[in-house]
Amino acid sequence: MKALEYKNVSFGYRDDSLAVKCVNLSVEEGEFVAVLGQNGSGKSTLARLSNGLLWADEGSVYVFDRLLTQKNEREIRRDVGIVFQNPDSQAVASIVEDDIAFGPENVGIPREEMRERIDRALKAVDMEKYRGAMLSRLSGGQKQRVAVAGILALRPRIMIFDESTAMLDPRGRREIMDVILKSREEFGVTVLMITHFMEEALLADRAVIMHEGKIAAEGKPREILKDADELQKYRLALPKTVEISRKLRAGGLNVGDAFTAEELTGEILRAYRS
Ligand SMILES: Nc1ncnc2c1ncn2[C@@H]1O[C@H](COP(=O)(O)OP(=O)(O)O)[C@@H](O)[C@H]1O
Ligand SMILES: [Mg+2]
Repeated sequence: MKALEYKNVSFGYRDDSLAVKCVNLSVEEGEFVAVLGQNGSGKSTLARLSNGLLWADEGSVYVFDRLLTQKNEREIRRDVGIVFQNPDSQAVASIVEDDIAFGPENVGIPREEMRERIDRALKAVDMEKYRGAMLSRLSGGQKQRVAVAGILALRPRIMIFDESTAMLDPRGRREIMDVILKSREEFGVTVLMITHFMEEALLADRAVIMHEGKIAAEGKPREILKDADELQKYRLALPKTVEISRKLRAGGLNVGDAFTAEELTGEILRAYRS
């Protein structure tokens, strides 16, 4: 079943230019799609068009085969949760626990279940100790963890992360990624992840590149992320490790493309052993 589908969707903030241009994209239930693209390419706008935070000027959006309209917007928002990049702009309460409770409360989750959901969500993002803390006292990364906990507690069938781990260090990003992958296993959640971190994109089933409001390319992450000429067209860089492996190859060491630091080490060791 299709979880999310954009059909010929266009949107402009002003009349003179379109931020999203005739996008066709369909995401299967349970699929994990990474969305890449330089700043201003329309990624956040596309995310906001998925659940009525913005309305398409042209074209249609379908969520689990229902056409998104102003009539079913509320119902569809239960199915599509978005975590944004800036945690301050999405906080709705001053205490961590209340902030996480807001989403589930709004959709009528009973008290007893709520407690359990909040406990689990806080534990998942390793923020149990901050349950009663003031959000304003937390670091950017901690706020992002709370925002992720909020969507975990809400348990929408589609989770969209819009550069939601930008303030975390690599280890923190890895932890959040693990949480997302786990809830995908457990609940069959569909994930759309807007990111410029290659290590996140590599874990996706499919990568989509946006450029000037359009879907410019899509495919397996490893296919998309190894085509330097194509990436350059969209002002994206090769993953550092791929670049290094190519330099080593040019220098005479027989290594294959490596997409992670681990793979790079493996390739180098193999090259020296053979
Ligand atoms: N609130 C807004 N008002 C006017 N223009 C906007 C607004 N938000 C984004 N834009 C413009 O729309 C285009 C796409 O932006 P956005 O979707 O935020 O791209 P991305 O998330 O890929 O960086 C850009 O040209 C940006 O300047
Ligand atoms: Mg954006």
